[in-house]
Amino acid sequence: MIILEMLSITLTATILIISAAILFLRKKTTKCLHSIPGPRVFPIVGNALQLADKTKFLNRLLQWHHQFGDRYLFSIGPTNTLVLADLKDLKTVLESQSLLSKGHAYYFTRSWLGNGLLVSKGNKWRIRRKILTPAFHFKILELFQSVSNEQSMILVKLMKRKHEKCEPCLIHNMISLCALGIICDAALGTRLRCQEESSVYTQAVMKQSEYIFNRLISPWFHNNYIWSRWGHGEAEKKNLAILNDFIHQIIVERKTMYKKSKKNLDIGGNEPLTAERLAFLDLLIEIQSKTETSLTDDDIYEETATFTFEGHDTTAAGLTWTLYLLSKHPEYQESVHDELKTIFARFPVR
Ligand code: HEM
Repeated sequence: MIILEMLSITLTATILIISAAILFLRKKTTKCLHSIPGPRVFPIVGNALQLADKTKFLNRLLQWHHQFGDRYLFSIGPTNTLVLADLKDLKTVLESQSLLSKGHAYYFTRSWLGNGLLVSKGNKWRIRRKILTPAFHFKILELFQSVSNEQSMILVKLMKRKHEKCEPCLIHNMISLCALGIICDAALGTRLRCQEESSVYTQAVMKQSEYIFNRLISPWFHNNYIWSRWGHGEAEKKNLAILNDFIHQIIVERKTMYKKSKKNLDIGGNEPLTAERLAFLDLLIEIQSKTETSLTDDDIYEETATFTFEGHDTTAAGLTWTLYLLSKHPEYQESVHDELKTIFARFPVR
């Protein structure tokens, strides 16, 4: 009985302390943002309950955009999110030399992506960014054009099949798998049949993105202990082990191949990689073996995982939106189609 009473006192005290901390943090951060419009913020949870249904998440953001305009503020627990929809504002943020550290939302990617380029800051980010700049060169795309073509053809074939059978399909899922296939080849040098068959790795990638999103929109799961105890923390750990093992295994294999081949590949400088097609992972192995940047295998892991995630999630979202907007505006769809016909008339595959 006494134990029960003590437990309930501890629980109540914990809830009160957490609530006070959330209120304090929100008050402190909203002080400078109070002139920005946004939906009414509820105590403790902020706007989390209005965003809890993830199938309506984007609709909700669009609805607020219509209501409050190009700059608005919402919050999830103690964390404020400033939504910017004006291109001029976006340019200011993206070109800023001082807004370099990432927001709270990125915290939930760390268990997967470590402290890679996407989330690192300060000196670590500057040094890594310099090392990895050749991998961002636009000419690098040419090296992977054939992989991109191959995966796109499979996507079109699968979509046609769905269309012929009048079956509905989740376009975003199909495009994500296509993009994942391309990036696995480009970043890991590994050909996965992501679109044709389900694999433990691709399922784990998709699941991990869901865990991150679910945590992000549920402030009650932001705390690691609560997430492990009452959320999907344990399942997430198993999922992370799959992702981790898969990439570490590939790192080992590629390093062995690298040692065997002893090829002298051209890296660094302002010029992009000019040697035969080279996966991003090979570039890191090359840097590790040739320079004094002391990249460890864990560093290689976090950058490779970062590129694999960043490289498929962003492109898949962008392409899905593009298709959605084209379907809503047939006149533009028509002109895109005409442009494609002129480009591919002479070269069926480019
Ligand atoms: C339509 C496609 C893409 C869009 C819209 C996009 C957008 C962005 C944005 C806005 C950032 C800055 C994010 C931030 O600082 O919080 C970023 C960073 C980054 N992106 Fe992309 N991205 C795309 C494709 C890719 C691809 C294909 C890759 C890799 C193959 C990639 C890798 C990265 C990496 C590594 C960073 C961190 C860079 C740094 O901080 O120095 N992205 N991306």
